[in-house]
Formats: sequence, structure tokens, C-alpha cells
Amino acid sequence: MPESAYRHLFACHFIFLDYVFEANVSSITDVSTHALTQAQHRIQQDLLTALEAFAIPEPLRSAVHHAVMLGGKRVRPALCYATAALKPNQNSAAVRRAAVAIEFIHCYSLAHDDLPCMDNDLLRRGQPTCHVAYGEDTALLAGDILQSMAFETLGSRLFDQGPAVEASIVLKQMQILATASSKMVNGQVLDLQSEGKKIDQQALENIHRNKTGALISAAIMMAAVTIFEGTDLAIPKLREFGQAIGLAFQVQDDILDIISDTEVLGKTAGKDEQVEKSTYPALMGLEQAKAYAQQLHDQAINALNHFEGQAEELMQITQFLLTRKS
Ligand code: IPE
Ligand code: IPE
Ligand code: MG
Ligand code: MG
Ligand code: MG
Repeated sequence: MPESAYRHLFACHFIFLDYVFEANVSSITDVSTHALTQAQHRIQQDLLTALEAFAIPEPLRSAVHHAVMLGGKRVRPALCYATAALKPNQNSAAVRRAAVAIEFIHCYSLAHDDLPCMDNDLLRRGQPTCHVAYGEDTALLAGDILQSMAFETLGSRLFDQGPAVEASIVLKQMQILATASSKMVNGQVLDLQSEGKKIDQQALENIHRNKTGALISAAIMMAAVTIFEGTDLAIPKLREFGQAIGLAFQVQDDILDIISDTEVLGKTAGKDEQVEKSTYPALMGLEQAKAYAQQLHDQAINALNHFEGQAEELMQITQFLLTRKS
């Protein structure tokens, strides 16, 4: 089926999602000043600029655009910008490249996560999944190329306006992103192995920290190394924040799969139970899982207290994450 037919099919979901998303954001604080709303505008432009810098043959180019440009909350880029806002920053181009790179890796992980050999999903961000729209071969390759494009972007001069960013900072960013991407893959394999099995909380925590937490922490740490020396106490505090918020993110994803619906989620609700995924609600029950997510958010906010009111943007995003509906 051509892409245009799918667009028609899913058009109402997409508009509905936009509406729900704006409604969520505006219920927290003024839409015009919310860190996440601003980040969404910034990253959308930068993603497009970055994508246009690559020559990619069709249909791969369209598949990559599909995986990257159509929706998404853009939480990881937002965390990147919000971390960089903790201190005046000479290295803003490195932050912008990091935000693009982390979203590229995330979008690759989603295109692969949805494949029939993985979670076998048809709907993502209110759209047909990449393989439904472009075929498995092209979706697989879209993920592959996004992975290398992430590192190419990180090492490039894209967005540079002044002198080049110090090479040691770029190297740190690359190491952080490479380690987190490997952890994501390790978590994904453990996730698939655990379908239909009973695993304990320690094993589940290990899956979630790897498959999801690692990229969320990386978004924060790639920005942190542009403003703080390795010896600064801010570094372990941000690591603590990232680990708490990263685990909480997947616990909530598990909860939303149960309590939300397909229109709001933009992906098929109830899927985890259907395929007997190992999740927090399955392990400890829905109410306990909700309490655990709250506890992890409290931990995250405690870590931010170190910054004594300077972490307003990170606070706003944390608040959004706790109350998110999709
Ligand atoms: C979904 O991530 C996959 C997980 C790691 C839980 P997001 O909830 O950030 O997905 P988008 O980018 O907003 O679509
Ligand atoms: C995804 O976890 C983690 C990734 C690395 C993509 P899920 O499989 O639960 O994510 P959704 O629910 O499909 O977005
Ligand atoms: Mg999965
Ligand atoms: Mg999935
Ligand atoms: Mg999920």
C-alpha cells in the first residue's frame, strides 16, 4: 500500500495525538515557556537540517524521514538541552549535535523494536510502523543507517558558528553514546528472552536500565560533559538523576501500555500482556508499579536539589514525565 494511503488511514489519529499532547503540556505550565515544548520546536528543525546533510537513495531516504520526523515526544533531546541550560555554555553546537544524535539512535531503536522479529508492532507515533510503510528490508536498513548517522553527526561541524568544540569533549560524547547504544541492544535481547517467563525484580530492573535507561542517561551526560569538568560533583548528581528518570521512564511505559489506549499512546495498547512481556505491573501489580515510578521520580528530584533552583528546565521535564499520558 502506498504511504499516502496510510497517511489518510491514520490522519485522524495524528491530529488527535497532537491535541492530547498539547493538552498535557498546557496542564503543567504555560505552553509557551515549557522546556519540552521549546525543545520540540528546536529539535524538529535541527533533525531536518541534519537529515538533509546526508545523501540517501530512495526508498531509504523516505523510510528514514518516516522513522525520525513523524511525531515523538522528543524527551531525550529535551533532556539534553535542559542539562546544557544548567550553566552558560560555549559548546552549544556540541549540545545540538548530541540532541540530534540521541534522537537518531532512539528512532533507530524504535524502527528495529517494531520489526516482526522483535515486538511485531503495526502502529508507532500514530503512524504505521516503518516496516509496514516501507517493508522489513528498508526498515532494517533505516535503523542501520540512523545508527551510523548519529555518530557522523556527533563528529561533524554541523551547527558550528565559532571555533571547533574541543576534541576531548566530542570524544567523551561519542563514548557515552556508543556505550549507551550497546546497553540498549543488550537490554533488548534480554527483553525478548524474557517473554513468557517469570523473572525477579533484579533481572527486570537490569533489562529496563539497559534497554531504555541507558539512552536517557546518555542524553543528559552528553550535555553534561560540554559544561562540567569530570571532577565536578554535578556529574555524579546528573548521573543519579538520569538513572532514576531512565528507569522510571520504562516503568511508566509498562504502566501506560495497560492504563492508556491506542489513540492516546499512538501505539497498540495492551500489547505487553498479549505477548507476556516481563513488565513492572506484571511483576508487582499495577498499583505497586505506579508507587515505584513515583518513588523513582522522587529520587530524580532529590538529585536535582544539588543545583539549588538552577535546574528549572530539568524539573519541568521531570514533572511532565511523571504525568505523561503517552
Ligand atoms: C518509547 O520511547 C520506547 C521506550 C524506550 C519506552 P518514547 O516514549 O520516548 O517514544 P517517542 O519518541 O515519544 O515516540
Ligand atoms: C522499547 O521498549 C525499548 C527500546 C529500546 C526501543 P518497548 O518495546 O516497551 O517500547 P514500545 O512500548 O514498543 O515503545
Ligand atoms: Mg520492545
Ligand atoms: Mg516495543
Ligand atoms: Mg512498551
